[in-house]
Amino acid sequence: MHLSGVVAAAAVLPIAPRQSTVTALTVNLDQKFQSIDGFGFSEAFQRAYNIYNLEEPKRSQVVDLLFNTTTGAGFSIVRNGIGSSPNSSLDWMNTIAPTGPANPASAPEYIWDGKDSGQLWVSQQAAKYGVNTFYANAWSAPGFMKTNGRDSNGGLLCGVRGSACSSGDWRQAYADYLVKYIRFYEESGVQVTHLGFLNEPDFSTSYASMQSNGSQSADFIKVLHPTLAKAGLSHVHIACCDATGWRVQATMTNALKEAGVEDLIGIITSHPYSNGISATLPTSRKVWQTEYSDLAGGWSTAWYTNGATGDGYTWANHIYTGLTAGNVSAYLWWVATQDRETNNNNNEKLILVDKGDYFVSKRFWAFAQYSRTIRPGAVRVGVAGGSNLRSTAFLNADGTVVVNVINTDATEAALSVSGIKAIAAKAWKTDNDNDMVAVVATVGSGGTVSGVSVPGRGLVSFVITTSAS
Ligand SMILES: *[C@@H]1O[C@H](CO)[C@@H](O)[C@H](O)[C@H]1NC(C)=O
Ligand SMILES: *[C@@H]1O[C@H](CO)[C@@H](O)[C@H](O)[C@H]1NC(C)=O
Ligand SMILES: *[C@@H]1O[C@H](CO)[C@@H](O)[C@H](O)[C@H]1NC(C)=O
Ligand SMILES: *[C@@H]1O[C@H](CO)[C@@H](O)[C@H](O)[C@H]1NC(C)=O
Repeated sequence: MHLSGVVAAAAVLPIAPRQSTVTALTVNLDQKFQSIDGFGFSEAFQRAYNIYNLEEPKRSQVVDLLFNTTTGAGFSIVRNGIGSSPNSSLDWMNTIAPTGPANPASAPEYIWDGKDSGQLWVSQQAAKYGVNTFYANAWSAPGFMKTNGRDSNGGLLCGVRGSACSSGDWRQAYADYLVKYIRFYEESGVQVTHLGFLNEPDFSTSYASMQSNGSQSADFIKVLHPTLAKAGLSHVHIACCDATGWRVQATMTNALKEAGVEDLIGIITSHPYSNGISATLPTSRKVWQTEYSDLAGGWSTAWYTNGATGDGYTWANHIYTGLTAGNVSAYLWWVATQDRETNNNNNEKLILVDKGDYFVSKRFWAFAQYSRTIRPGAVRVGVAGGSNLRSTAFLNADGTVVVNVINTDATEAALSVSGIKAIAAKAWKTDNDNDMVAVVATVGSGGTVSGVSVPGRGLVSFVITTSAS
């Protein structure tokens, strides 16, 4: 039984002794899994303006919550939507080529509005905090490049197999257009590092969407890859294909391999909506989970309410599953912010922005515990111990060792961490009552970390400096 300091100090009657059982976790640095690029979110579809339009000091506070590695989530990846819509009606993302030429041989007139639906400003704030991973991701090509003549309601890119367009093959034009978008960001001081040309290509809807199967994606990648190389952008990793679910992405990945383009791809990307993460994807490339959120629930700031879809605890478990069963190198939430009006104030945001104020969910703190501690360049390593615990361990590039522990049991568990020669340790916990609150860890003379308990249905993260750090 755990007694808080306040209760213990105030107690007059004899109190029950602190539970003496300690669950031992053992880190195994010799067991190495995937390398980590980071954690992130999107502010696509004009959500970025929720932050931009806040008055100071709230605006800076939200930016700090997202990116600060001492007090915030320390998010390290921003996923931006490359606009394809003719204008900014509704929440559309406007394109840099609102009108197209009659045929693909002539270049469109490019228009840069310096805003990119608010995303450029958010990206620039991220860069100030040291974020250097920017995933630019198109939901669709502009309408004039597609079989259906508009950026919404599916349709194919003209030129991929199965498309027939009287205006010709627009694959090169689309590749040039994506390079142009990267250039506009470069000129604004933000370097795009990852580039996707599809979003949920198995889903056709009333907003920006473009269909593709794996072989059609390969038809475009064969044009995009040399175009990036010629533009001096070989360092930009091609991402494919942001399918709606893990199984769909597995099928597409097999088709990409069959078409011989796996080596041209930097990262295989998927969302876990239509089917979740239960296994690794069939690829030797890095895998990113690039979009997920609770689309079903109403706005909730709860940590644990019996495993509801929007509970922070539920999301800690999703992240755990992605990192372990999914072998993912990045785990991205959908939108960081949203207002109350959009989608009936559902739970697809981490932070609610309403009437000049903001409200932070516990999902945010679930992400923060992982994102702030596991830094880009980390490698996942082995950790064992505790049948009610879901633990992951990482070796950061700076030599620190991270251990994240979810307690699936309702009873608090005292922990020790060994297998490394600790010389200093920091720890934080999140549960119903705490938002990544620092707790004191003790380092024993043998280099074992102790003194920290993970609350029932709680989450604890350690960052441990070792003699090898
Ligand atoms: C896990 O990801 C790494 C990339 O970091 C990759 O090299 C490895 O093949 C993946 N393992 C499995 C089982 O998919
Ligand atoms: C925006 O584009 C749509 C689709 O082309 C069009 O119907 C609508 O009138 C445009 N809205 C504005 C404000 O230009
Ligand atoms: C992060 O927060 C800490 C503590 O408030 C502050 O000292 C630091 O300047 C912040 N970092 C950045 C990059 O603003
Ligand atoms: C993709 O669709 C095209 C056009 O219908 C078809 O020729 C091709 O076989 C499909 N590829 C896969 C892997 O399903």
